[in-house]
Amino acid sequence: VLKIGNPFLRKIADSVETIDQTLRDGVVQDMLDTMAAENGAGIAAPQIGISLRIVIFGIETNPRYPDAEPVPLTILINPKIQLLTTETESLWEGCLSVPEYRGLVPRCKRIHYSGFNEMGEPISVEAEGFHARVVLHEVDHLDGILFPERIEDPSQFGMLKELEDAGIIPKVATKK
Ligand code: NI
Repeated sequence: VLKIGNPFLRKIADSVETIDQTLRDGVVQDMLDTMAAENGAGIAAPQIGISLRIVIFGIETNPRYPDAEPVPLTILINPKIQLLTTETESLWEGCLSVPEYRGLVPRCKRIHYSGFNEMGEPISVEAEGFHARVVLHEVDHLDGILFPERIEDPSQFGMLKELEDAGIIPKVATKK
């Protein structure tokens, strides 16, 4: 997984032209394997060095986000997002490309997203709360944006361990 500071993470990713077996066996499988190995709630293709508009997200019970409601595993290609409200919600957010850190990030509470799954079938979903947050976070990666840029109050950023020791973030089993 590429880490913050790597200029590749700042690039605008290219649209996927063809959804086929090569894509499924290649990039998509690599993303699924990486996300599983890292206990991530989501991953975007640019994070593994691929400049394509593909994101994957899903949460059953994730030790990184113990309070998050379940989100079905979704492979979303060429995503489009519509914000359905001006209301935002702030939550401590992390990223596999920004290991050991967390920041308090406001995100839109309710969105609609669309795109295609790995079989080329259309996806159209209304999401709220953590589900909306993870989609917004992953799609930001496709536009070269990392969560620290979304933090409103720069003082609300720090190392996970310190934030946990201070009781600002509850301690969990796994840390990345
Ligand atoms: Ni991320």
